[in-house]
Amino acid sequence: MDRPRRLRQSPAIRRLVAETRLHAADLILPVFVREGASAPLPISSMPGVVQHSLDSLRAAVAEAAELGLGGIMLFGVPEHKDAIGSGATDPDGILNVATRVAVAEAGDALVVQTDLCLDEFTDHGHCGVLDSRGRVDNDASLERYREMGLAQAEAGSQLLGLSGMMDGQVGAVRDALDDGGFADTPILGYSAKYASAFYGPFREAVQSSLVGDRRSYQQDPANRREGTRELLLDIDEGADILMVKPAMSYLDVLADAAALSPVPVWAYQVSGEYAMIEAAAANGWIDRERAVHESLISITRAGADAVLTYYAAEVARALR
Ligand code: PBG
Repeated sequence: MDRPRRLRQSPAIRRLVAETRLHAADLILPVFVREGASAPLPISSMPGVVQHSLDSLRAAVAEAAELGLGGIMLFGVPEHKDAIGSGATDPDGILNVATRVAVAEAGDALVVQTDLCLDEFTDHGHCGVLDSRGRVDNDASLERYREMGLAQAEAGSQLLGLSGMMDGQVGAVRDALDDGGFADTPILGYSAKYASAFYGPFREAVQSSLVGDRRSYQQDPANRREGTRELLLDIDEGADILMVKPAMSYLDVLADAAALSPVPVWAYQVSGEYAMIEAAAANGWIDRERAVHESLISITRAGADAVLTYYAAEVARALR
């Protein structure tokens, strides 16, 4: 009789035949930095995650480096917002200041990455600028992304994470970087990014002013084939790394990406995925540590080469 159970009978044999493992070097910690904060501030819908001050950011970067994480992804929470998201391109805007601080602290230990999107900086909360009728204007937004890409590269960002879902964004920012003397700055395309309810807690984390939704630019959760189209476009436009987001509800899209991509494929375990595990665990309904591990091993098994996760530091500590 064929007996697969032979390879499951002890922890030692199970460990030996495990097909997938987690490594600290494959984990990237998203980090929120709030302008004007003098101490870290909790985010109620994401227990254990904070908006950092510049001082606590330094400590978080040092800890991430010490734990051997692959990188951090920075998000800025500005004090003032306007229609074009001026804070995003201001060298003294919070995200660019935080980038300089993080790069100085990180040295060569990990890759400091930045979210390249206007939504944290616009008073209407959209990922682009609006036209006279209030719709998100794709090509006018690309102009802002070019400027934002240059501002981030100048601040020292080592990987630009383009999460705005405007058509042509990777190509536009690539051109701007190449023309601006930053041919060596790589681009992470949030290629297949879906209009997801699982971003809910993130909106609190960055104090988003969004009214309405992002369905005219982020993808419809119903569409798998369209994910492939977006991934291929980003490869064509010169993305160095592709991303699928959210992770756990889109493992089919992630597996497609892993199969077709000649460049690394990452996944983002987003705020709502984190919040669901935390809420269920707080109620005693699931075993927290096992659920965290299983969620990340599933994302890795589906084909992610690296994962952005709010659990990055905790998991790296547990892996020691
Ligand atoms: C856009 C951006 C979002 C997230 C990362 N980048 C929000 C959105 O698209 O609405 C969500 C991340 C998360 O939920 O953890 N700047």
